[in-house]
Parts: sequence; C-alpha cells; structure tokens
Amino acid sequence: MYDETQDELRSEPKTWLVTGAAGFIGSNLVEKLLLLGQTVVGLDNFSTGHAANLEDVQKAVTSDDWKRFSFLESDITSLEACCDACRSVDYVLHQAALGSVPRSIKDPIASNNSNVDGFLNILVAARDAGVSRLVYASSSSVYGDHPALPKVEQNVGVPLSPYAVTKYVNELYASVFGRAYDMELVGLRYFNVFGKRQDPNGAYAAVIPKWTASLLAGEPCVIYGDGETSRDFCYVDNAVQANILAACCSNSDAVGRVFNVAVGERTSLNELYQAIISAIKTERPDFEAAKPSYTDFRAGDVRHSLADISSASELLGYQPSHDVSSGLKQAIAWYVESLA
Ligand SMILES: NC(=O)c1ccc[n+]([C@@H]2O[C@H](COP(=O)([O-])OP(=O)(O)OC[C@H]3O[C@@H](n4cnc5c(N)ncnc54)[C@H](O)[C@@H]3O)[C@@H](O)[C@H]2O)c1
Repeated sequence: MYDETQDELRSEPKTWLVTGAAGFIGSNLVEKLLLLGQTVVGLDNFSTGHAANLEDVQKAVTSDDWKRFSFLESDITSLEACCDACRSVDYVLHQAALGSVPRSIKDPIASNNSNVDGFLNILVAARDAGVSRLVYASSSSVYGDHPALPKVEQNVGVPLSPYAVTKYVNELYASVFGRAYDMELVGLRYFNVFGKRQDPNGAYAAVIPKWTASLLAGEPCVIYGDGETSRDFCYVDNAVQANILAACCSNSDAVGRVFNVAVGERTSLNELYQAIISAIKTERPDFEAAKPSYTDFRAGDVRHSLADISSASELLGYQPSHDVSSGLKQAIAWYVESLA
C-alpha cells in the first residue's frame, strides 16, 4: 500500500503544508515529501524546532527538490498566519505543538496556547481554504490512566497531564469539525517516536536522544523509577509512512478517525538503555558506557504503553518498516555523526 501511494504521488504531485516543519517529525516529513517530488510549505516559529533541521533536510535532497520548498516563520496562534499558510494547499500535516508532559505541567498555559488555540486556528484555516485533508499529531498520552494493554483506539482513560488534555481536545475538535463542516480529518496517536533530528538538548528532551547524547559525551544517564517503565518506541520513518497514508488513503472508513502509530512492541527503559549502548558499539566498537543512575518516578508519566496497531494496518495499510532495533541503528548512526 505504501509503495503504491508513493508511486501515485510521484506521478501526480500535490502541495502540502507541514506545520512544525523545523521540528523533529516535521523535518522528516518535509524531507520525505520533497524526495517524492511534492511541493511543500513549511511553517514553524522555532520555539522548539531549529533552522539546523531544515539545513539538514536541504543536504538530504537535491537542489531541484529544495526549490519546491518554501518556509513561513509564523506562529499558529495567529489565525492570519494559518490562513496564509493554508492557501492553495492540498494536504495539511499538522505537527506544530509544544511537546512534553513535564513542560505542560510546568507551563500549562503555553502548552494550551500552541496545542489547543493553535490547533483550532489550523482547523479554521484549513476549512476556509478547502484543503482536501488534514492529518494531525495526537499522542498516546490520550490513553491516560486507562489500564488496558495493548492500547486500542476506542478505550481512553482520564488524561494525566495538561499535555494529554490538549491532545484529547484536538481529537474532540477534529471530530466536531469533521461533522459540522464536512472536513476530512485523520488523527495519529504517536507512541514515543524517535530518529534523526530529535533534539537531545534541554530539560524536556526525549529519552533516546538525551541518553544517546549523554553516553556519547561520557556522562551517566538518569533512569526514572526502577527502569521497568515501558514504551512502544516508534522509528520516525514509521510515523512518516502513517502521515502519508493517512493523507492519501482512499478508504472513506479511515476518515474522521484516530489511529495508533507505533510498532506494537514494548521495551522497558532498562532494555532501551542496553539497546542504545549496543547500537553505539556498532558505530564505535571501543565504546565504554558510564553506569546509569536511578532516581524517582516522574510526575504524569504512565507506567506502561503498548499500541494495538491493527486499525492503522487494516484501514490505512500501515506496516511499520522499522522495529526498535533497526530504528535505533539508523538513529544512533545519525547522532554519532552529527554530535561528533
Ligand atoms: N516525538 C514524539 O514521540 C511524539 C509523541 C506523541 C506526539 N507527538 C506530537 O508530534 C508533533 C511533533 O513533535 P516533535 O517530536 O517533532 O516535536 P518538535 O518539538 O521537534 O516539533 C514541534 C515543532 O512545532 C513548532 N511549534 C511549536 N509551537 C508552535 C507554534 N505556536 N507555532 C508554530 N510552530 C510551533 C516547534 O518550533 C517545533 O519545530 C507534536 O504535535 C507532538 O505533540 C510527538
């Protein structure tokens, strides 16, 4: 299914808006779309994204590909900016948001501004511009305190953080806009996405880039809790695939839904730590890791997370191309080179 979709896009290119284009997932989407011959408008306010990510994309594509990219340094909290960005666009891949559960606990208003007000602006702008379909980034955090594993889309619990509330509100708004304005909207609940260009710096860095950078710098890693907390870590190429399928899929049953985007594999933090070390050793055979230190559990974190990806497989044709170990190999090779 993914191969056919890519062939169709190559033969009939479209115009895409990627919000959050200077961020981790957004920049990977921009790169893939340009390589597929698409015209891409990127939007970002550089709050957590970096110009260096776009420079890295430029290096990964040809100069002809790069000519099909334009960039708007704008904030989605401005409706006017969103309307400008949506003009003449076929598909919107909405990634712009302030990520991180701890960030939202520290500053819920900032998270709400970008993630809820900004989302509403993008919906209104996409509606008024008549875009064909909008795919948006939701999150596994929406499952909150629901105890069932694996997580199935229809069973959500009570959100455990302001961030989770913002993503849940996105899904509610998307559902209402789909019905009230007859828009085509698809939500993707990402589960711990990782890969090249994910930011290793700052207080809110995700675990894989943070540990990789610490290990490469010879510094000890901090593991929250007993290290048996587990997650369904998903390589970024899988998330890119899900976005493209969700935007292009002709199956009308897929429209108006939210889908888990993951691998369907659970890895504990202790296992992840060892897997990162062995991926680094593939790149640097003489590498010696510093011993990790353990500290308290982190507020707002769920204990275990694992996705059921059968809905995305059945309705979108999603088949993860990478498991945790093959994804880590790619990601770590990139960090070893770019952090050198
Ligand atoms: N990475 C993950 O594991 C993960 C998991 C679940 C959900 N998500 C969601 O996926 C999306 C992309 O996440 P990411 O990991 O690439 O994060 P990221 O921080 O690298 O990218 C987000 C981008 O959005 C931009 N942005 C934020 N607020 C903005 C605003 N008001 N106006 C314009 N641009 C703004 C940032 O500058 C950044 O470039 C986010 O919506 C995030 O909540 C990510």
